[in-house]
Amino acid sequence: MLYDSYKWWQKTVVYQIYPRSFKDSTGNGIGDIKGIIEKLDYLQDLGIETIWFSPFFESPQQDYGYDVSDFRQIEPNYGSMNDFDKLLKEMHNRNLKIVLDLVLNHTSIKHPWFIESASSKDNPKRDWYIWRDGKKPGGRKPPNNWKAIPGSPAWLYYENTDQWVYFHFLPFQPDLNYRNPEVKEEMFDTIRFWLDKGVDGFRLDILHGIYEDESLRDNPITWLLYSEEKAAYNFQYHKYDLNLPETFSFTLELREIMDEYKPERLLVGEVTGSIEELKKYYGPNNNGLNMVFLFEYTSIALKFKPKKISKDISRIEKNLPIPYTPTYVYGNHDRDRYISLLNNNTQKAKLLATMQLTLRGVPYIYYGEEIGMANVKLKLKASKDPIGRKFAKFPYPQLTKLLGIFVSRDVCRTPMQWSGETNAGFSPNKNVEPWLKVSENYKKVNVEKEEKDPRSILNCYKRLLKVREENLTLQIGEFEFINLEKLNKKCIAYRRIHNKQVVYIYLNFSDKEILLKTPKKEPNLIFSTLSNRKALDPKEYNRNLKLTPYEGIIFK
Ligand code: NOJ
Repeated sequence: MLYDSYKWWQKTVVYQIYPRSFKDSTGNGIGDIKGIIEKLDYLQDLGIETIWFSPFFESPQQDYGYDVSDFRQIEPNYGSMNDFDKLLKEMHNRNLKIVLDLVLNHTSIKHPWFIESASSKDNPKRDWYIWRDGKKPGGRKPPNNWKAIPGSPAWLYYENTDQWVYFHFLPFQPDLNYRNPEVKEEMFDTIRFWLDKGVDGFRLDILHGIYEDESLRDNPITWLLYSEEKAAYNFQYHKYDLNLPETFSFTLELREIMDEYKPERLLVGEVTGSIEELKKYYGPNNNGLNMVFLFEYTSIALKFKPKKISKDISRIEKNLPIPYTPTYVYGNHDRDRYISLLNNNTQKAKLLATMQLTLRGVPYIYYGEEIGMANVKLKLKASKDPIGRKFAKFPYPQLTKLLGIFVSRDVCRTPMQWSGETNAGFSPNKNVEPWLKVSENYKKVNVEKEEKDPRSILNCYKRLLKVREENLTLQIGEFEFINLEKLNKKCIAYRRIHNKQVVYIYLNFSDKEILLKTPKKEPNLIFSTLSNRKALDPKEYNRNLKLTPYEGIIFK
């Protein structure tokens, strides 16, 4: 099947910036918008097209921007509205697309709406949040058994009105009530406010939690502590607080707003569930979100097991065939840095990058992945992330991690490593202590150094992005596995096809050299993870192709 016509967002590559950690322009140790503007040339040169910014709206920063206190203002820590306007202009001048992170699900407790709502039962904003009486008799227990993501009951008691308020994430992030039309209208206006300014799309934070069951039925219990695929965590299936039919319909309303604008705008949802469930976010006729993160399936790549990976790719292809757009994402501001899951093996990282950038779908690159930034070790007690501080109180915090739950997200949020100078060149002020300490490996892993080294991860990403840009087939072509029979246990191969052009991708997941039958007499090598790989010469190997350990190649 072919795309009839394709849109910019189907072909794009997205790069995620965590503004607090990207580039400090003022010298206070905190990244900011002006700092990002300084680095736009770097991003353009890298070869990405779209940038998604974690939130820089006004916020008390208890969850570093995912706790918004004004959706239409810029947080002074990061700059001003003028800075934002400049960022947008500078990006558009470079043909870069700008995607904002919208936290529709909740606000900060410091948002004036919540302050009003909490003040009394008859406040006009009372119904903007989800307030309920506690369980009878006495009302001293939360209204139902729902658990918030990090594990505690999902309700917070307010003595002044003797009621509980619902939150899906942390207690200082109460959920908005989308059954109240005023809330919906206000948030839709906010979306239009940013679209009118010219933004190109939105990443939608925990979108799956927008609606909850109206009668607050208890969630069913399970032995599962954590399964993204089953939308189960904290020993319950999140049947009544996640992925409600109303939330699926909500995506259609969002799409309608986007469709008021030209050219098309992008909506990508952060959601959890099985792929069959996730597909519902694309709408019954692919008229909902443009795409959702498929973390459960794509992060499997990090286990480096080719058979499993192939199975998941097949599952994605089966459920989201053209014209649906899958996503391939290895990391973000909530997850371990992917190279750390590969024991810092740069060959493996290059191989996975090759796969990510050649599969059918939109790749999402988290800042620093392109230079191989790794997790940073830290003391939980000193965690800046509120989740880390919560787990620091547990007797065996690392156990929680073994069970599949993140412990502190600081590990993946450290300052971008620009150079070997003090603070990795993140801040112009050499005496400042950045908000999170810079990784100790910054002298070895940094942009300046890697730019000069043809074998660096950075140059591998650059070459890959260039090959992708030059070959429309890699952006929108159909996908087909190549059956390698006995060899496919250690190797994944596929072709991408568009019109008459075919591009072949061969990925060697083993630490051994392998020989593969060539599908073409005279293959034209357009990329190898090895920077010094010569042309493919099958004659040399008696009509076979030789792949060195962990090598990935692309040819036509
Ligand atoms: C998901 C975001 O990715 C995470 O960083 C944030 O803390 C929660 N949503 C709450 O907004």
